[in-house]
Amino acid sequence: MTRTLFVLVAAALALAAPAAARDVMRCEIVGNALDEPSEGEWGVTIDTAWFDDIKAAGFDTVRVPVRWSAHTGEGPDYLIDAAFRDRVDEVLQAALDADLQVIVNVHHFEELMDDPRGQYLKLLNIWNQLGAHYADWPDALHFELVNEPHTALSGAVMRQTLLSALEIVRRTNPTRTVILGGDGYSSIRSFSSLPPVDDPNVVVTFHYYDPFRFTHQRAGWAGPEVADVTRGWPEPGDRAQLEADGDIAAGVQETLGRPVFLGEFGAYEQGPYEDRLRYINAVRETFEAKDIGWCLWNFTGTFPLWSSETGFDARQLKALGLQE
Ligand code: BGC
Repeated sequence: MTRTLFVLVAAALALAAPAAARDVMRCEIVGNALDEPSEGEWGVTIDTAWFDDIKAAGFDTVRVPVRWSAHTGEGPDYLIDAAFRDRVDEVLQAALDADLQVIVNVHHFEELMDDPRGQYLKLLNIWNQLGAHYADWPDALHFELVNEPHTALSGAVMRQTLLSALEIVRRTNPTRTVILGGDGYSSIRSFSSLPPVDDPNVVVTFHYYDPFRFTHQRAGWAGPEVADVTRGWPEPGDRAQLEADGDIAAGVQETLGRPVFLGEFGAYEQGPYEDRLRYINAVRETFEAKDIGWCLWNFTGTFPLWSSETGFDARQLKALGLQE
């Protein structure tokens, strides 16, 4: 190959590569706030000064869950409340100003999970508005179409819903990174539920809370099967399971030839602390070793990495590989 041809081919490949998505490696979720029915209702109001601290701790990205569905008018337009959107903008802008990449999503749209056909137009209208509104924002802003599809939002209905939302977004944001997760709460076993998408800027995500009896022991919202559980980590077989799951995600990443992203993991604070640290460390290392970026649930509120009284939990940061 001549030198000129080589340079041209390399340039074309660089243009095609989803560079931004590859930069999402160490991410923190700032949840329990804008994903509440209204911010502050569960005790967390975002302080935009947090983002500088998150950046300084070593994270490159934040994921900001937002319950847009609770802040629209009636159909057929489902207009997003301007004051709420301004507040979200303020938060996203502060994170970008802190030199973080930002993932904004549609979170806790529970009516869509129960009645996808009835709520489909509302989702599309939300993304139509968000796509237009954020079209000129930097590439460092990433979209995630629906958090954890589950219940009736599964299989073919889920695929059609995601593809339609993607198409709407692509009208105004042709190359922005867009993240898609499969049904069954986007678990590591959900990859095959996703639609094939021929778009180099689409990233496939999964959430990892396995074993659930460990990560959600005594979590009030997680159902009776974990209500009274006290369980450590690892129990026999846990490490082998994690290794096998790491291979699944790595295999999907290789097959797709595009990044796969661990969009949520963590362990509830009712679990034994040392075991939680071991778990966070092992999950992070397993997927990081496969070149898979990760996002920890959660900055403050449930599963806290930080609290207003004590600041960052230095041992969790260490388990995340962010502090000696
Ligand atoms: C949910 C949170 C929950 C967390 C861990 C998230 O996807 O939005 O409400 O606390 O998962 O279960």
